[in-house]
Amino acid sequence: MRVTVFGSGYVGLVTGACFAEAGNHVVCVDIDAGKVARLQQGDIPIHEPGLDVLVKRNFEKGRLKFTTDAEEGIRHGLFQFIAVGTPPEEDGSADLSHVLAVAETIGRHMTEYRVVVDKSTVPVGTADKVRERIDQTLGERGVKIEFDVVSNPEFLKEGAAIADFMKPDRVVVGTDNPRTAELLKTLYDPFTRSRDRMIVMDVRSAELTKYAANAMLATKISFMNEIANLAERMGADIEKVRVGIGSDTRIGFSFIYPGAGYGGSCFPKDVKALVHSAGEYDFDAKLLKSVEAVNKNQKEVLFQKIAKFFGGKLKGKTIAVWGLAFKPNTDDMREAPARVLLEALWGAGAKVQAYDPVAMGEAGRIYGQRDDLVLARDAEAALVGADALAIVTEWQEFRSPDFDAMRDALASKAIFDGRNLYDPHFVKSFGLKYYGIGRGE
Ligand SMILES: NC(=O)c1ccc[n+]([C@@H]2O[C@H](COP(=O)([O-])OP(=O)(O)OC[C@H]3O[C@@H](n4cnc5c(N)ncnc54)[C@H](O)[C@@H]3O)[C@@H](O)[C@H]2O)c1
Repeated sequence: MRVTVFGSGYVGLVTGACFAEAGNHVVCVDIDAGKVARLQQGDIPIHEPGLDVLVKRNFEKGRLKFTTDAEEGIRHGLFQFIAVGTPPEEDGSADLSHVLAVAETIGRHMTEYRVVVDKSTVPVGTADKVRERIDQTLGERGVKIEFDVVSNPEFLKEGAAIADFMKPDRVVVGTDNPRTAELLKTLYDPFTRSRDRMIVMDVRSAELTKYAANAMLATKISFMNEIANLAERMGADIEKVRVGIGSDTRIGFSFIYPGAGYGGSCFPKDVKALVHSAGEYDFDAKLLKSVEAVNKNQKEVLFQKIAKFFGGKLKGKTIAVWGLAFKPNTDDMREAPARVLLEALWGAGAKVQAYDPVAMGEAGRIYGQRDDLVLARDAEAALVGADALAIVTEWQEFRSPDFDAMRDALASKAIFDGRNLYDPHFVKSFGLKYYGIGRGE
């Protein structure tokens, strides 16, 4: 089938590459000419395991093209996927300007029937706005062309995006038109072969499903962080509590890890956007507001522990930071808890020696050259000359470090483990001081 994808970011690029891998002919359109030029040379602008191989193979086979030419893309695909960003506005609402700009472009260049598929995460009612914008633009051209607007939210996880797309738990399709549902079913069939995983529903329910899924996951994390903060004060160990509750099949083990707060490009903005949307319907989303507030506090917990340890005197101290990406296996630092920590440390006059297995380029891009930031070549180098270590991202390579070397390198011999990677007793047996999340002191 012929597919066009607007937006070549985390979602658009994975979508385009995976559809091409299944044998479809895909044109990816992006307004960022630099990004398109890099992609045309086989240079993948993001870190996503397995994506480079997929892009290269399909590009070479001529099934995957990258362009800035929207008209070419609109001419190409029966399916016009919209996978552009929907960043938060000041008030927390989702910025729909990119989505509507694509809708307008489609209306301007469309010459025959098209299925416009909204994959970006957008508030309930956006499909109506996309339809109106296309209608309006067609009207300005004085033409009448049939089209459908479908909601097809994306549930992939950065770091495991290819596997998630290739073998999705479900494919949600929001449409009132059975013919469009059939077309999408044909397109998605190669990815849902073991059983039918497509859930067809009305457009508004599909739009809300995406927000509800992210809000639920964010709620689990904030819930666990709240209990962790309680555990700490009550002399309990949250890791024991986690195992104790996770073993209840009604609760389960996934997404109940306490930590340094959730980040990334989705949970923070989507929870805020849902709270904002609720307000537009005169509904006070009290639970979701609390989820957001708990998370904001949690992102400050590591800094507070470090500040307390040094008696509030952080000026002149050097803190090693392991992990900058908002989670492992990605270089994405959008809303990453590490950013809150770095900025708080700098605010208190401390220096940072940071290391992340893949996000060093991204950190350099965000923060540039500054005297109080050293981007270390590896995890050990980040420790040299540091007073203490803070761990913010649970990368695999941080799980079994050389604790003897760590003790010898760190002047104050303290580890602040924002992801509870280690057994406190084991770490302390090396003569180190250990501070985790929700496990006492
Ligand atoms: N990143 C994730 O893990 C994830 C998962 C599920 C859903 N989503 C949602 O998918 C959407 C895209 O997210 P992302 O992380 O891929 O964003 P991104 O910022 O990585 O990529 C967006 C891309 O769209 C391009 N773009 C902007 N306007 C354009 C236009 N008019 N025409 C063509 N291209 C345009 C940008 O240049 C950029 O390359 C968002 O709504 C997000 O909430 C993201």
